[in-house]
Amino acid sequence: MIEKTEPGLHRPLPGLWTDQNQTTFVMDSKFRLLFVCLGNICRSPAAEGVMRRLVEETGLGDRIEIDSAGTAGWHEGKRSDPRMRKASARRGLDLTHLARQVRRTDLAEFDLVLAMDRQNLADLLALDAAGLYPARIRLLCEFCTRHEAHEVPDPYYGGEEGFEHVLDLLEDACTGLLDHVRSRIS
Ligand code: 4NP
Repeated sequence: MIEKTEPGLHRPLPGLWTDQNQTTFVMDSKFRLLFVCLGNICRSPAAEGVMRRLVEETGLGDRIEIDSAGTAGWHEGKRSDPRMRKASARRGLDLTHLARQVRRTDLAEFDLVLAMDRQNLADLLALDAAGLYPARIRLLCEFCTRHEAHEVPDPYYGGEEGFEHVLDLLEDACTGLLDHVRSRIS
């Protein structure tokens, strides 16, 4: 098989491949989603949990891969914020993600990178220094259908209601996002 890779890429690119016998075939690849916030302990791991459940409920668990990361590395290796875990648990979600910082290679490896707010979006676009992936870096709230919001606000310095509001937005946005992904993989 002739490998079709890019520098720093950890997986083969999806699409048409050609082997030594010039036989062309389709590489079976999952659609990969990465949710990104600042610390990767509140919004993006919750988005990961909400999306994971929706994907499992629709039987697409073997077609869609989900991860999350933070633009800052302050909380690397930590579990999600206890306030976000508690609010998520009330909705039946168990957040098990361990925080990690987003890497430049993520931009090549994920099909869509969903920013929670405009600062996250700007930081991701800056990470894409060569301007290779602007189309796959989007604001998650673009996919909301029931809320007018453009951003998922940072709940870290606020009260319990902020975490509930984040989950309300995430449930709306992830439902729209799932429709979008389904149209791209069908
Ligand atoms: P997140 O929230 O970006 O939704 O994970 C935050 C978590 C930690 C901090 C800020 C926001 N912090 O300043 O440590």
